[in-house]
Amino acid sequence: MYGGRLLKSLPYYRRFGRPKATTPRRGRWSAAGILEPMIDSAFAAQVRARFPSLHPPAGPAPIFFDNPGGTQVPQGVPDAIVHYYSTSNANVGGAFATSHRTDAVIAEARQAMADLLHAPSPDCIVFGPSMTTLTFHLARSLADIWTPGDEVVVTTLDHDANITPWTDLEAAGAVVKCADIHPETCALDMESFARALSPRTRLVAVTHASNAVGVVPPVAQIVQMAHAVGALVFVDAVQYAPHGPIDVQALDCDFLACSAYKFFGPHLGILYGKREHLERLTPHKVRPAKNTVPQRWETGTLNHECLAGLSAAVEHLAWIGETFSGPTAEHSPADGCAGRALTLKHAMRTLHSYEQGLMTQLLTGLGALGDATLYGPSGGEEHVPRVPTVAWTWPRLAPRATCELLARHDICAWSGNYYALRLMERLGLEGTGGAVRLGLAHYNTPEEITTLLDILHRVSSQTR
Ligand SMILES: Cc1ncc(COP(=O)(O)O)c(C=O)c1O
Repeated sequence: MYGGRLLKSLPYYRRFGRPKATTPRRGRWSAAGILEPMIDSAFAAQVRARFPSLHPPAGPAPIFFDNPGGTQVPQGVPDAIVHYYSTSNANVGGAFATSHRTDAVIAEARQAMADLLHAPSPDCIVFGPSMTTLTFHLARSLADIWTPGDEVVVTTLDHDANITPWTDLEAAGAVVKCADIHPETCALDMESFARALSPRTRLVAVTHASNAVGVVPPVAQIVQMAHAVGALVFVDAVQYAPHGPIDVQALDCDFLACSAYKFFGPHLGILYGKREHLERLTPHKVRPAKNTVPQRWETGTLNHECLAGLSAAVEHLAWIGETFSGPTAEHSPADGCAGRALTLKHAMRTLHSYEQGLMTQLLTGLGALGDATLYGPSGGEEHVPRVPTVAWTWPRLAPRATCELLARHDICAWSGNYYALRLMERLGLEGTGGAVRLGLAHYNTPEEITTLLDILHRVSSQTR
């Protein structure tokens, strides 16, 4: 949390004025092959053209800042869903053509996700209705092999979908410990995390990015520390997935879950697991269902049409990689991958870079309100990386009333706790209406942020 002195030291929004419309450009490429921060309307214009809901046929175009609640989808996603129903609708494993086509749709979605996460094989990708469902499912199977007194470490930073599936195991004798945050920045307190580990730790459950305050904990370091005491690591990448590259092999995590509807796809969940775990653990399943990996983890019939849509969402990201990846698209040793997996890494770096520019504009503008309290890192603290998911409060209006005000201007934002219950309790926000959350995505523009800030500054000057 920061406010007061730090906020006042931020440059005033008024000093910047409105961001100028930019001429088309692709940003500047660093030697490491990373697009330097930029605010580039041309990038967003090309991206936005692919998202039908951002320019409805009638009525005003919404300014969509509820991306952490679920992103909009490019046209390719509904097209793929309609195409599936028109050409391939069937159950799996049959002797007839539509069933073969359905098998192919699922195989393609697995390969797409393996590429997006840089998983070693599509067999490490499990599909389910949501991240929450998949996490409860896995937790139940892990608990079957634990003995009373075995420990799980969760964090204050996490969405409840990565806390309650683990605290529920207390009923079976598991001991749950919680790693705290530094409340000033909401960064994970790594000393608290180290203290929570013990030789009895069986699993660490940690987020890749907070869905409330945007903090990105040092996941690779957490994995190393957990493995050093013999614990497995489950990463909740739901909020990170739309904002940056994920490499499960580089992270060396044991499990990682994400949700397609947070990265421009349909409503379904994805679980990556190391093959050895998916084979060794016993899922709760019906007897006739396949016992091969990964199908043994998929309870019931999958949502085939949404899997077709998922492949289209990944194709959208690959399009970004192909269109905006500049001259460095060739393989770099640090990437450790090739083909579409590498294109997707470039795409996610491009998104990250673009969004960091938007985030700076947003944080600066909120800071210039003078009396806003922002939760999480300001963006200036380089030691606390973050995604552009910003939670804040101000004395002018309650969080819900702020969202209602913004809704009257066709700006979509959320308020409350967004299921980040422990974090909101820790910040003293639970029971007070929580905080306003503004979550940016790659189709948002500097102009949209200017519109938002103008409204807030107007309210601010009228209520002084
Ligand atoms: C960080 C985070 N984890 C988990 C979830 C739960 O995902 P799902 O809706 O797929 O269960 C969410 C949803 O908002 C989230 O933001």
